[in-house]
Amino acid sequence: MKKIVITGGAGFIGSHVVRLFIKRYPQYQIFNLDALTYAGNLENIRDIENEPNYTFIKGDIVDAPFIEALFLEHQFDGVVHLAAESHVDRSITDPLSFVKTNVIGTMNLLNAAKTIWNGNYEGKRFYHISTDEVYGSLGSDGLFTEMTAYDPNSPYSASKASSDHFVRAYGETYGLPYVITNCSNNYGPFHFPEKLIPLFINNIIQNKPLPVYGDGKYTRDWLFVEDHAIAIDLVFHKGKNHDTYNIGGFNEWQNIDLVKLLCAIMDEKLGRPAGTSEKLIVYVKDRPGHDLRYAIDASKINTALGWKPSVTFEEGLERTVNWYLNNEKWLHNITSGEYTSYYEKQYS
Ligand code: NAD
Ligand code: TYD
Repeated sequence: MKKIVITGGAGFIGSHVVRLFIKRYPQYQIFNLDALTYAGNLENIRDIENEPNYTFIKGDIVDAPFIEALFLEHQFDGVVHLAAESHVDRSITDPLSFVKTNVIGTMNLLNAAKTIWNGNYEGKRFYHISTDEVYGSLGSDGLFTEMTAYDPNSPYSASKASSDHFVRAYGETYGLPYVITNCSNNYGPFHFPEKLIPLFINNIIQNKPLPVYGDGKYTRDWLFVEDHAIAIDLVFHKGKNHDTYNIGGFNEWQNIDLVKLLCAIMDEKLGRPAGTSEKLIVYVKDRPGHDLRYAIDASKINTALGWKPSVTFEEGLERTVNWYLNNEKWLHNITSGEYTSYYEKQYS
């Protein structure tokens, strides 16, 4: 029986990964380690919380003695590490939190894995989930490959780049068995409404302005979150040791085009006349250091492991919108409380 700890499993992507592993691997024991920060939400995994192969542990990866004791107690075979501070705008106002969780937290997990595995690496794996943002910004053409040099521009991407380097360094220096993946922007159910797509869905429902940064001509490569979870499963089980893989949606959109598409879908779903939601668009002050374009060359994971996105953007976006419209209570619980003061500070 394998014991796997998934960190950040109460967050957006982590909740989909936990759900997939719980369902696909009844013979594994899955431990979900999460500090339940503002972004962590047990509602995201309510449907699987009573499964016999699932255990939730509330804990902070920044707390080194706690992490070491936890690893000594459970003797995990695998670590799937998603816990992070994940929002670029928050990293601009509070960069140190990103260093603490993303860099020091990752170090603590690496140290604890190194301690319990003690050089006996057979059947062991440390899987670090990272982002394409470590590569910095593309111009109007080209794609990020696994060979693209790291060139992070935001405190978020700098902290993720740093943690990637430490994971790799532990592989080179101590032989720690690791894999890293760098994925493009995800979207889908349970996405915290501080990120573009769920924020704008919520604002459209509320008839609130849609704050497009700068001229809206920034480009992102969007992937449906369940396809990311499938890629994570594949890389965890079949990825080559000490290797990295890029994961992307082959799906580039300029923000303004994406927002207009979302407005059209929402008008239809809400039974509002076409063009209603587009009127909510306002161009606001740009994000400092805003990366112009991200786009992934995912041919390595496709060739090596046979992965490719299974959900088209049209289908994924419609499923996402439907999910938010059917889960207004989830949205309401999140957007009351602390969220209100974040929103005012960020957008006033
Ligand atoms: P999220 O912000 O939705 O969730 C993060 C989770 O980590 C939350 O449940 C939170 O409670 C937990 N967490 C935060 N600090 C912690 C700490 N100190 N100790 C324990 N738990 C802590 O993030 P997400 O969007 O699901 O991203 C998950 C991972 O995937 C991150 O590592 C992120 O860098 C990476 N990633 C995200 C995207 C994306 O588009 N969202 C794309 C590529 C990579
Ligand atoms: P976001 O969802 O924060 O992801 P990331 O910055 O990690 O790519 O933002 C996606 C794009 O949308 C990015 O170019 C910034 C832009 N954006 C806005 O224009 N307005 C907003 O209110 C937000 C949150 C993002």
